[in-house]
Amino acid sequence: MNENLPGSPEPFKIKMVEKIRLPPEEKRKGLIERVGYNVFMLKAEDVFIDLLTDSGTSAMSDHQWAGMIETTQAYAGSGSYYSLEKAMKDIFGFSYFIPVHQGRAAENVLFSTMVFPGCYIPNNTHFDTTEANILRNKGTPVNFVIQDAYNSEKILPFKGNMDIKKLEEFIKEKTPGKIPLIMITITNNTVGGQPVSIQNIKRASEVAKKFGVPFFVDACRFAENCYFIKKREKGYKNKAIKEIAREIFSYADGCTFSGKKDALTNVGGMLCTNDKELYEKFRILAIVVEGFITYGGLACRELEAMARGLYEATDEAFQAYRHEQIEYLAKLLRDAGIPIVEPPGGNAVYIDAKKFLPQIPQEQFPAQALTAQLYIESGVRAAEIGSSCFGKIDEKTGKFIPAKMELMRLAIPRRTYTHNHLKYVADCLIKLYKKREQIKGLRRVYTPKLLGHFTARFELIN
Ligand SMILES: Cc1ncc(COP(=O)(O)O)c(C=O)c1O
Repeated sequence: MNENLPGSPEPFKIKMVEKIRLPPEEKRKGLIERVGYNVFMLKAEDVFIDLLTDSGTSAMSDHQWAGMIETTQAYAGSGSYYSLEKAMKDIFGFSYFIPVHQGRAAENVLFSTMVFPGCYIPNNTHFDTTEANILRNKGTPVNFVIQDAYNSEKILPFKGNMDIKKLEEFIKEKTPGKIPLIMITITNNTVGGQPVSIQNIKRASEVAKKFGVPFFVDACRFAENCYFIKKREKGYKNKAIKEIAREIFSYADGCTFSGKKDALTNVGGMLCTNDKELYEKFRILAIVVEGFITYGGLACRELEAMARGLYEATDEAFQAYRHEQIEYLAKLLRDAGIPIVEPPGGNAVYIDAKKFLPQIPQEQFPAQALTAQLYIESGVRAAEIGSSCFGKIDEKTGKFIPAKMELMRLAIPRRTYTHNHLKYVADCLIKLYKKREQIKGLRRVYTPKLLGHFTARFELIN
């Protein structure tokens, strides 16, 4: 991209489109009530603009589609596996990789192998599936993100960073033998898609090494994180995204990866390691639960799409466009006084629902209420990242422990929506903000124990 030209248009043009429809408001009201005020249970065809997630919702390129058609379909040894191997060596640089069907499948193989009852897994902030996969294996997930991450107004370049001092004290307190691995999530989705600095990743890895604990990266949005490093961290301005990625991964012993984000595919994931012994263990389990290692529970064409998508996601012009699009939506909301998490993250704009709806206590799920109301108002589907997702019930007292933050996430699928779509989202949210005191809280009437937010049901409190 020529940096002397004003603005940066999308570095692509549109070749195929999909029709979207806005159901009438009365219908939207009925639909959301019927699904228990949980937008996960809506049919996609009833959603006008779908900002539920940026995961698996990217528009693939003609290059990816062409590769999907051209590649061979084989149980073992498809050419697409070797294309992916090349991309993984080039961009990630780990000694071994195993394709899996999505990020949580990599977590399943990793944690089923390494977690033992009574152990602890530190992270800057675990994502919900990471947390659930650790709990399922009887370990305890712990979060050491810097305290400022919980202050939605505080402007910091790397608000997703790990608190290194707290991490070190925790390892000393619990002893390294109780900690089978340390993770760091880039970008840190749970606290607003916030980036982690390369300095922080390096320091966390040094602490891990000092105590002899393996260090893994949850690399779902590694390319977005690399772009933040390029723009914000001293010494990285002139480095290519791929070079920054290689440096990050050089500090790690392995990673989990969801291709549904920064490989620009609709499905797929990866588990990587440098440790041969560990790889053998992962490989055996992966064959049992995912499939043979040259297809990993995927059609071979999906491997080819990931291989090609990885190069496209690390293209600077693409990342510049992506970050500008998120800032575009953030600015529209910020200028209207809507409380967003500042600075905006790499994959989404997050609304601080505690501030948007101060009249609704956390026991009444303000972020969930806002998400449901936004759907009624506009047909836009966002996601709750608050107490429905991360609230807990104390097992001894039965008391509700709310999440630290009540966020509504407007995740932006990659290359899918135009600025006009986002302008519509902003206009509707601004309209809703003007009548925010009319929005009511919710009562949760059903939730399963693990990952309850996907299927939880709510009733309106009148
Ligand atoms: C930070 C993070 N880790 C892990 C995952 C799980 O990946 P997947 O949805 O492919 O299972 C996600 C998905 O959104 C994520 O955001």
